[in-house]
Amino acid sequence: MKDLFKTLTLAAAIGISATANAITVGFAQVGSESGWRTSFSESVKAEAEKRGITLKFSDAQQKQENQIKAVRSFIAQRVDAILIAPVVETGWQPVLMEAKRARIPVVILDRNVSVTDHSLYLTRIAPDFEVEGQRAASWLTEKTQGKCNILELQGTVGSSAALGRMKGFNETIAKFPETKIVRSQTAEFTRAKGKEVLETMLKAEGGGKNICAIWAHNDEMALGAIQAIKEAGLKPGKDILIVSVDAVDDALKAIVAGEINVSVELSPHLGGPAFDVINEYRGGKKEFDKWIRMGGAVYTADNAAAELTKRGVK
Ligand code: AHR
Repeated sequence: MKDLFKTLTLAAAIGISATANAITVGFAQVGSESGWRTSFSESVKAEAEKRGITLKFSDAQQKQENQIKAVRSFIAQRVDAILIAPVVETGWQPVLMEAKRARIPVVILDRNVSVTDHSLYLTRIAPDFEVEGQRAASWLTEKTQGKCNILELQGTVGSSAALGRMKGFNETIAKFPETKIVRSQTAEFTRAKGKEVLETMLKAEGGGKNICAIWAHNDEMALGAIQAIKEAGLKPGKDILIVSVDAVDDALKAIVAGEINVSVELSPHLGGPAFDVINEYRGGKKEFDKWIRMGGAVYTADNAAAELTKRGVK
């Protein structure tokens, strides 16, 4: 007791407040399937370091069961808060209830969770995936005057990024009877799968001469698609248009090279807002909007080079 008193007195003397950042936060991340995901992980790690927060990072390798194990381990270690970037939407309620029983606040980042009790997490910090799909489709229908045969590379099945983007895109092209998705398959948000799945699709479509565009749910699959299109003897971005989401540096470079036509930006800088929420919670705020929306720009040949310069990318 005497020691605790001494520590508190010392803390007060050197000006450490009760909400200081000497806390431990567990982060259950999806994996490292894309350049976007890597930037997102880096954003959380860098922000934790900057604020003096001890971060326990877990890479689930795209498997929800690994994430659930990680969250249980964070609870057992009595961390001060938990960040979850969920692989898929369903299956979260039981482990979130365990965190709530242990009085550990949870912040959801990026993809969503489908739960009936929304008091199980403080807030979700994420973009609007449906709007991303709408923006990609609007660009494409305008560019092609509503006439286009599309091959779709879907993200991870059951992830809200794939579900939302698909919904927004499909609802937008539904207004154009001559715009249709002729084949659609998951490539799990990875470059290797994007290439492999597109190769198979192009073969099934007689080499791809009647295909007007690829709709890739992320840049990583779009970058894989570029390779498949080239190997099929066609020019990506010209013979076959490519629309995508994320706006990672490599995709902006591909836009400048004329090989991707458009990428809808998804900001990976989620670390700052996530720790701000935890800080506010520890400072006494208990009610948060359930969705803190992140916005983003749309990049095409008109603005990609300027954005690369702004990012300091050569
Ligand atoms: O959940 C967001 C998506 O996941 C990103 O668009 C993609 O690159 C990532 O793997």
